[in-house]
Amino acid sequence: MQQMNCGSVKDVRIGSDVILYGWARYIRDHGGKLFIDLADRYGIVQIVFEGETKKRAEEIGKEYVLKIQGKVKRRSKDAIDKDNPTGKIEVIVENFEIINKSKIPPFEITEEKEKYLPSEFLRFKYRYLDLRRRKMLNNVLFRDRITKAFRKFFWSQDFLELETPFLIRDTYDASGSRTFLVPSRIHKGKFYSLPTSPQIYKQLCMIAGLGNYFQIVKVFRDEDPREDRQPEFTQLDLETSFKDEKYIQHLIEASIKYVFKHVLGRDLKTPFPHIEYNVAMEKYGNDKPDMRFKNELVDITDIAAKSDYNIIKSIAEKNGKVKAIVFDADYGSKNAKLNEKDMLDLVEKAKGWGLKGLTWLYFKDKGIRSKPESIAKSLESVSAQLIKRLHPKEGSIILIGADLSESVLLAGISKVRRFVGIKIGKFDTDFAFLWVDHFPVFERDELTGALQPAHNPFVAPTEETVKYLDTEPEKVLGKRYDLVLNGLEVGGGSIRINKPELQYKILKKMGLSDEEIQKSLGFLIEALSYGAPIHGGIALGLDRFVAVLAGQDDIKDFILFPKTKKNESPLDNSPDRISDKRLMEDFNIKIEKPL
Ligand code: AMO
Repeated sequence: MQQMNCGSVKDVRIGSDVILYGWARYIRDHGGKLFIDLADRYGIVQIVFEGETKKRAEEIGKEYVLKIQGKVKRRSKDAIDKDNPTGKIEVIVENFEIINKSKIPPFEITEEKEKYLPSEFLRFKYRYLDLRRRKMLNNVLFRDRITKAFRKFFWSQDFLELETPFLIRDTYDASGSRTFLVPSRIHKGKFYSLPTSPQIYKQLCMIAGLGNYFQIVKVFRDEDPREDRQPEFTQLDLETSFKDEKYIQHLIEASIKYVFKHVLGRDLKTPFPHIEYNVAMEKYGNDKPDMRFKNELVDITDIAAKSDYNIIKSIAEKNGKVKAIVFDADYGSKNAKLNEKDMLDLVEKAKGWGLKGLTWLYFKDKGIRSKPESIAKSLESVSAQLIKRLHPKEGSIILIGADLSESVLLAGISKVRRFVGIKIGKFDTDFAFLWVDHFPVFERDELTGALQPAHNPFVAPTEETVKYLDTEPEKVLGKRYDLVLNGLEVGGGSIRINKPELQYKILKKMGLSDEEIQKSLGFLIEALSYGAPIHGGIALGLDRFVAVLAGQDDIKDFILFPKTKKNESPLDNSPDRISDKRLMEDFNIKIEKPL
């Protein structure tokens, strides 16, 4: 008698006696016979109860845990289930035991289509049941395979797998996001902070001379919830010494190529293409363009100023910007990828993305048309120029956005670009990787005009632009690169500053006082002064990377126990209040006015 799992039972000889453990997923009583689909992590197999065992089995409910002993039997031809790997066999139960009962699950643990899915709240509250769904289980397994492949690759490259601390000092933020604080019981009134990334500690590992380091690690960011962000997420983090950007980029490319080969069974073309940050902003409106399609933004501010279309004309005349983008949408034909309703919906969406409006035109019989016609009329005097610059084809859709603030316009229209590009779906490739290089080191706060780090404050300036540090700091570019996949930022890294004086100066430029620098990052600057090697690295956002590779967009489906859109966990009801007594006794903390 052999103990098998519900997936491997198909591999034994017909007639074998087996023992199986699993959960009773589907139960069908056909009078003389009772059929149960018994499930575990490895598969689902049909077990059959007849005669005396059937009578006893009638008390089995959904999700009961069973131990069965039975004989493997070939199914009759008409009973074969082609969709299930175990679908050619079944197990006739000779004896069984109910290991544990289950309450009736709050939702059907079904393999049916998504439309039967319960609310996110319910799925997260009973995540351990949600994870029994095959789709979720497959996501867990997929992530496991990717994680293992990355580990194998970096082990093979002689990278040390090291752990950096979680309880650290609250430093001037290393990622541009807020930190979670942890009060200390022993040092009442003092706090640790949770790392937003291992950034500083991996740099210290390089100063320690540890050379190549990697880590698959949880990091914590107390950020406002957004679609593809979680307050705790996983990074594949690495750092290396005495190497340049090219080396680090090639290394990551090689690791991703390895993952594609061993997990997806595909050959991935490397090296990935590169684009300069400034060029990406100009051509696509953001620093993470979706390169599955090539459609570029075209500046038409000069043409708009000469037109009679008041909305864009007035913006152009007031020094605003007007940008257009063209999509081959076969508009008006029976193959149309977009219809009028889609366009009206898109205009509404664009408003949600910060644009005041979006003008849409289409190209038909060699002319620019619109609905209502008055728009095309008001563009008549410039239509030849527009056609010359935009090269529309029969059925093309022309989208025009305008705003006094260029950053508002680019943020909005780049979202329009990605949305329409995906909707039309004429992809050159299904996985479009792109390196975006040389981000500015500083950016200005839109409200106060103050200089702040565009990423973290440790990015080394390029040799060509460091000279602008005192005169025109916005011109200083960093040895920084982001990795973009299908329009999502899946990774980011840089070569770091390794000279204490330069690090100090950059922090000063960012508006920190001597005292703030000393208190917050004095320990790093001190470390840099003991012979810091040239060093740099990168971190991939693993949750996001896995989701995109699986062709899905919700990172929450690839995290075992995620938080909701409000950063809450319905499973354990966190975050939650802590009693006044404990707060006082352990931490000497008093909440003045409970909210
Ligand atoms: P960065 O802040 O760019 O770099 O983070 C690296 C990658 O992590 C992913 N990511 C997220 N994923 C899920 N939820 C979030 N809230 C979230 N925030 C970021 C993104 C991002 O590209 N220390 C540097 C790396 C370095 O310079 O080596 C860092 O943390 O995919």
